[in-house]
Amino acid sequence: MTVRWAVEVEDFSWRYQQAREFALRDVNLKIPEGSFTLVVGPNESGKTTLMLAIKGLIPHSLPGTLRGTVRVFGQPVEHTSAPVLAKRVGYVFGDPEAQFTALTVEEEILFGLENIGVPEEEIGERIRWASELTMVADLLDKPPYDISGGQKQRVAIASVLAMRPDILILDEPTSMIDPLGKDQVVQICAELKATGSMTIIVVEHNVEAFAHLADQVVLVYRGQVVRVAPPREFFEDLEFLAQHDVSPPQVTTLFALLRERGLYNGALPLTDDEGIAAGWQLLAGEGS
Ligand SMILES: Nc1ncnc2c1ncn2[C@@H]1O[C@H](COP(=O)(O)OP(=O)(O)OP(=O)(O)O)[C@@H](O)[C@H]1O
Ligand SMILES: [Mg+2]
Repeated sequence: MTVRWAVEVEDFSWRYQQAREFALRDVNLKIPEGSFTLVVGPNESGKTTLMLAIKGLIPHSLPGTLRGTVRVFGQPVEHTSAPVLAKRVGYVFGDPEAQFTALTVEEEILFGLENIGVPEEEIGERIRWASELTMVADLLDKPPYDISGGQKQRVAIASVLAMRPDILILDEPTSMIDPLGKDQVVQICAELKATGSMTIIVVEHNVEAFAHLADQVVLVYRGQVVRVAPPREFFEDLEFLAQHDVSPPQVTTLFALLRERGLYNGALPLTDDEGIAAGWQLLAGEGS
């Protein structure tokens, strides 16, 4: 079966107009349709810039110097109109309030739908689907500024999801919210992944929560994509990660260290549950 690429970034470089240095240099990256990609990297490394290039805000809304190409479903973003891109790629910023404009949660979700010209008769169903999936269905008549941080983040996700984008980008979706809120965002991502119909890209420092969902992990470092690998492979090389300021999930680090000392030789766990299972197996093996 041939892979259909949701995103193809080819020899892409970008310099913001006011900047002296290029924010991204010679980036190459391919993202398969329907996959889940986790993007990691230290602050200011260019993660958001790369997402803006996929969303098309670079170069459509931001001035600067561009080299190379970004294609979304085969079409160069540079030559795709903003309304077409708006439907294809949904982008949720880390700070949910920055994108609120309406007086109620329902209007907030509705706003995007009207903007992209969704027919009247589809609107109710879309609001229902997006608000149920993001667990905000009981908040529809509340003002979006009068709800908790986690709820705000979920409303922001709902308003983008309702537009049914082919690609959903969440840029640090848990950076501003409490642990329960984080779990709920992870749950939404897991459900969306299970539907298999959307290509999902999550930028996160908090890799613990998202690593197990990822098909591939991308490391952006000082304006370049320096590694792309499936999560178990990605988080194996502790030295490389430390050199690039990335912290693997704690449980992965623990088992990688056990393995280095010859105490463990299985696959590295990515979640606490996997770690607990591997730990019990290790004990059972020792006893026999
Ligand atoms: N509008 C802009 N104009 C000029 N320079 C910018 C602009 N936006 C970002 N930059 C610069 O581009 C570089 C990459 O920034 P970017 O926001 O993409 O990094 P990031 O990896 O998303 O960081 P963070 O983890 O802090 O969100 C930084 O040096 C930043 O200062
Ligand atoms: Mg960023």
